[in-house]
Formats: sequence, structure tokens, C-alpha cells
Amino acid sequence: MAADAATAEMAAASLCDDLEPATTRTRIRDVLAAVAARAGERVVVGGWVRTGREQGKGSFAFLELSDGSCAAPLQVIVDASVHPLARLTATGTSVLVEGEIKEPPQGTKQNVELKVSRVIEVGEVDAAAYPLPKGKVKIPLETLRDVVHLRSRTNTIGAVARIRHQLAYATHSFFNENGFLYVHTPIITTSDCEGAGEMFQVTTLFSQAEKTEKELKENPAPSESDVMEAKVLAQEKGNAVAQLKAAKASKQDIDAAVAELKKAKENVSRLEERSKLKPGIPHRDDGTVAFENDFFKRQAFLTVSGQLQVETYACALSSVYTFGPTFRAENSHTSRHLAEFWMVEPEIAFANLQDDMNCAEKYVQYLCKWLLDHCREDMEFMVKNFDRSAIERLQLVSSTPFVRISYTKAVELLKNVTGKKFENPVEWGIDLASEHERYLTEEIFKKPVIVYNYPKGIKAFYMRLNDDQKTVAAMDVLVPKVGELVGGSQREERLDVLKQSILFELSEMCFTATLYSFEVKELWILDAGLPLEPYEWYLDLRRFGSVKHSGFGLGFERMILFATGMENIRDVIPFPRYPGRADL
Ligand code: 4AD
Ligand code: MG
Repeated sequence: MAADAATAEMAAASLCDDLEPATTRTRIRDVLAAVAARAGERVVVGGWVRTGREQGKGSFAFLELSDGSCAAPLQVIVDASVHPLARLTATGTSVLVEGEIKEPPQGTKQNVELKVSRVIEVGEVDAAAYPLPKGKVKIPLETLRDVVHLRSRTNTIGAVARIRHQLAYATHSFFNENGFLYVHTPIITTSDCEGAGEMFQVTTLFSQAEKTEKELKENPAPSESDVMEAKVLAQEKGNAVAQLKAAKASKQDIDAAVAELKKAKENVSRLEERSKLKPGIPHRDDGTVAFENDFFKRQAFLTVSGQLQVETYACALSSVYTFGPTFRAENSHTSRHLAEFWMVEPEIAFANLQDDMNCAEKYVQYLCKWLLDHCREDMEFMVKNFDRSAIERLQLVSSTPFVRISYTKAVELLKNVTGKKFENPVEWGIDLASEHERYLTEEIFKKPVIVYNYPKGIKAFYMRLNDDQKTVAAMDVLVPKVGELVGGSQREERLDVLKQSILFELSEMCFTATLYSFEVKELWILDAGLPLEPYEWYLDLRRFGSVKHSGFGLGFERMILFATGMENIRDVIPFPRYPGRADL
């Protein structure tokens, strides 16, 4: 059903006659798509004025109206007799108008226009106070980040929002078509997936402490002598009850004395409880923070990845994926990092590293093809304004197999580069830096490259150890413009090997420097008896019906950067979060 018809159908369902009737609004996209076919038809459209100008000595006005349904605005003509024009023309004004679709003049390339007969609603703008520039004046994307609540009204952010939506939709479509189930993994977690110590903590200890401090100011904690006094009083009340009972007093008198005793005892408990109140964060005797007093009675964090949790579903439902926000408290100020970003993470049972690479390649190609098929107008906008090769890149990537090379081979290639001096020297064992990744994909191969089998020392504990004992079955997809787009691996399915790897990771956290050799650490681990308890659930997946499985994470904003050719990741997420900034 056309969106137009769907809106009409929804509006027809005005079932409550005690409410204002539902709105029948036609999207600008549908008005423009109809070209001349709908000439003469009356429709209601709503939107925000991009540019407005009075013409014919103030007898009518042209408004370029956008409702976000497409990149192009609709030209709207309003006569001065219909509405005071000065109230309509300021950039940012919202209008809901009814009018007639006018055919473009013969032989011109103009779009259809709307001749307004009725202005139904107006949200006026004081042009002098409006933070966005008037009409087509360009404003730097950095400056727009200061008005994050209004920047969605600009052409660029609108186009990015539509592309982002299409990529999200295509993601669900791809996984659904390939038999994957969408699993919602938790945002609050008590496991650290990547082990890089970059987690944001979730705690109510600070707000609790503030509350306690405020309360103590208003109503100071009782002193020891206050508690003592209350105890003495309770003792006296107890004695009184005993005396009445011994004297065989009336039931009424005894009941009254018991009630008083009860009250006195309750007062003692209340005072004792309040006397424990202390300002500040609660600490244990050894000086560490008492997280057992926190909301979850343990330390909790915002997730850095849904992988570990989604593995539990893969090890039951075979092919699953999660797609949600992830959080990293790394102090990165680059154009490729956010503190809050979205990640798509499929996880597949009975799948090895090759299956994983095949899935990543097919998925990225599907996304590129989808944009070519569903987002032409916005992609053309990107080509015109940001990156001349954006569409070509999508065409190339959607139709060319990705290069696949081992990390060892990649390092060899980079070491032999003579035409360029890297800031970070290349040698086997290093974590490839963005400059290396981009050189491989942009200069050497000029297409996406999948690098696999990385040194175990630079990768996470859950990756499968290869037979060489030096590398793990990891893979990263590197793409032009961005560098690392996807990070994934085959997971370690062997219980003993995984245990060893977790212990190793824990020991890394305990050793402050990497001064010790692997062998020394291994010996130390055996002695230390480090607690595996937080990982027991993860180990259970290997204890009970363990299965080879693999997965990856695609950085959703990196995919948008790659597709659009935009330069900064802060402009492809609606509300960017990075060090020092979390507006709204
Ligand atoms: O390589 P990463 O850290 O992999 C994982 O988190 C795995 N647990 C995924 C998995 O196997 N299920 O992150 C995956 C991708 C990166 O390749 C990158 O595209 C993106 O997430 N990414 C970021 N994007 C924006 N800002 C950041 N700070 C990012 N960190 C990673
Ligand atoms: Mg990675």
C-alpha cells in the first residue's frame, strides 16, 4: 500500500467523535512522486519552511516546504488573501496547509507545486532568534553540533537520518531473510566483554549518598547517648509490663503497657538504624567501595558489546543477532569513535571463521546494494555535497569479492611499503593502527579487505586459539574511508582452553605492567586461584553441548560514514556522545 493510502486509511479511522478528527496528511514525497498525474487533486501537507519569499509586491509568497519524507522540498504558493504572508516566510516556520496540486509548466524541469487555499495551522518563528541560518546558507557541521535539537531540520542531517533508517531496515531484512532471530541483549551488564576496562558504571550510590547527606542535614543522626536513652526507656517499659503481669493487673492495663513497650522498642530500632547513616559513599572495612549496598548489590556497567549474552541464544537457536546501543568510556577524540554507538552483532552456531567472513561480506554487500536501490536521491545529495565517489564505492563494494589476507601477510605487505612513512612502526605483534588499515584497503587493494588470524596477545579472551598457539581465529573487515568496519572471530569452544584464557585475562588485570613473560604469568595463575565465578555461566555454554560458533560486530555509524562519505562520526548519529559532550 502506498504510504499516502495508508495515511488516508489511518485517518479514516476517526472513531471517537468527542475528539478532534484524525489528520489526513499527504507526505511531500508522495506529492512529488506523482508528478503531473495528481494535478488538480486537493491535499493537505505539513512541513517546515526551508526558504520563504514574498513576491509580486507582497501579493503572494513562495515557500519551500520540507517534511523530511524526501530530500526535495515542495514549492508551495500562498496568496496574501489566504494568510498574512510575513507570518509564513521565516525559515523554520511550521505549516499545515490545504491546497491543489499544480502541474509544472510545460517544457520546464520544475516539480509540481501546491497552490494553497487554506492555512490550517502555523507555528511561527522569530527569524532574529532562530539559531539555524536562513534559506540555503551553509553552516559548518561542527557548528550544527551546538544545536543538536534543531539540526535535524537541515538537508544534510535529514539525508543522513533517511540513510541511517534504510540501513537499519536493511539490516533486519538481511538477517530475517537468512534465518536469523533478533535477540534483545541487555544494556546493563555485569560482564566485561572486551576486557579493555572501558566501561561506564551504572550505580545509584551517588544519588543515595546525596539523599542521605541532605537528610542528615535536615535531621542529624542520633548520637550514641540518644540510642542509649531510648534503650533505657524501652527497658523501663519492659519492667512495667513485667510488674503489671506479676500483680495480675487487668488485661486492659497490661495491653496498654505492652503497646507502649512495642513503641519504645520500635523507636530503638529506628534510632539504631539512623545512627548507622553516614555521609558519602559506603566503604567496606578494607577501604573498598561497598557495592553490596548498590542498586544491583554488585558492580554493574553499560554494555560494550552484546556478544557474550547473544552467544547464549546462538547456542540454542543457532543463528541470531543483536542490534543495539553500546558504550565505551575510552577517551578517544577521533572522527571514528563515539562513547555511545550502535552495533550489529550476529552470532552463528556450527560456524567457523570462514563462515563468519562469508556472512560479514554478504551483509556489507547487501547494505550497499540496498542503498543503491532505495536511497538514490539521498546518495546523490551525498555525492554532490560530501563525497564524489560515494555511489561508485557502493557499486564497487556490492559487486566485488573482498580481499582476504592473514595478519602475518598484511604485516609483511606493510613492512615492504616504501612510498610512505607510518607514524606507528610496523612489526608482527602490533595492533594495526588506523593508518595501516586504511593503507591496506585504500592504497594496496583499493577495496574491502578481511584480515584474519591476529596475534593472541592483542585480541579478546573469547577468540579461538589457533594450532600455532600464537594467533587466534579473529577477523576484521577494513574498508576505504573508515578502516575497521567489522570485528569478529570464531569463539573458543574448548572448555579448558577458554578457562586458561580467562585466567590469563584476569592475571593481566592484576599485573600492572607487561614486564612478565607469558610463562611467568601462567605459573602465577596456577598459584593465584583467581575467581572464575563471574564467567561460570559463559563456561557452562562450553560444558553443556559446546558447539563451534562465530560472530562479529559491525559498527553501525562506521557503516554510515563508509556509505555517505561523511567525515565525522559525530554527524551520523542523532545525538552524539563523546568526551565532554552529551547534549540533551
Ligand atoms: O571490534 P569490536 O570491539 O568488537 C566487539 O565488540 C565484538 N564483541 C563484536 C562481536 O564479535 N560480536 O567492535 C566492533 C565494531 C568495530 O569494528 C567498529 O566498527 C565499531 O564496532 N566500534 C566503534 N564504533 C564507534 N565508536 C567506537 N568507540 C567504536 N568501537 C568499536
Ligand atoms: Mg575491533
